[in-house]
Amino acid sequence: MLLTQSQIKFFEENGFLVLEDFVSQESCEKLRIRASEIVNEFDPSESVSIFTTNEQTRHSDRFFLESGDKIRCFFEEEAFDENGELKQQKEFSINKIGHAMHDLDDVFENFSRTAELAAVAKDIGFEDPRILQSMYIFKQPKIGGEVVCHQDATFLFTDPLSVKGFWFALEDASVENGCMWTIPGGHRNDLKSRFFRNKNGDGTEMEIFNDSPWDISRLIPLEVKAGTMVILHGLLPHMSYANRSNRTRHAYTMHLIEGSADYPEWNWLQRSPEMPLRGF
Ligand code: FE2
Repeated sequence: MLLTQSQIKFFEENGFLVLEDFVSQESCEKLRIRASEIVNEFDPSESVSIFTTNEQTRHSDRFFLESGDKIRCFFEEEAFDENGELKQQKEFSINKIGHAMHDLDDVFENFSRTAELAAVAKDIGFEDPRILQSMYIFKQPKIGGEVVCHQDATFLFTDPLSVKGFWFALEDASVENGCMWTIPGGHRNDLKSRFFRNKNGDGTEMEIFNDSPWDISRLIPLEVKAGTMVILHGLLPHMSYANRSNRTRHAYTMHLIEGSADYPEWNWLQRSPEMPLRGF
């Protein structure tokens, strides 16, 4: 056991748990340095096509849909001007890196697969946890976009539902630089929508089960220091506003699913059979 009974109880009642000083400042720094190396090595022409908007949409869809077992960089929506030129330097234009750093990069793998995290996964109820995806989120100064209120299970579906998120602040997150907000206890809602691959497998769609809006008056900000870990239930509504400050807001997240749960092939995230999901 790594969590206390009262921490587990808090998580079950609220759908999230904040663990301050969970990782060292040195570990945060290592991840930030490695992320900046990955961005430096990234060739933007891999993700940006020079053709029409439609062509770009198809290209972006493919770039995203094939990233489940790769390491790819994704631009902020506001990164480009009307002429298709980057508005600021590449390193301040990337929205995130995804989605298999925990399997393909030694620095990220060492951060992601630890005895402490394995213990936390067990404490919150996993029997056979598997790390499904990892993301490095930049939340860039000025252009870091809003992430609208959502449940992670919309994007990472299993039957029965099992997804949970481990979120790590690699820099201080505040209201000013676009910290996460959540609705305590909101994980007791049913799943409101499902994001899935279309039949051709070349695009995505959203199916809405319940179109009632989230009660955003109940949102609370999770202002946390670098080194904090936040555990998120897969049904917990959460969001973050755009970052209009001059500071970045770097974070790393991993999503876990239960090994015995069914993982439908219509999920957007698919991996090659040569790269089966692994636990800790
Ligand atoms: Fe999320």
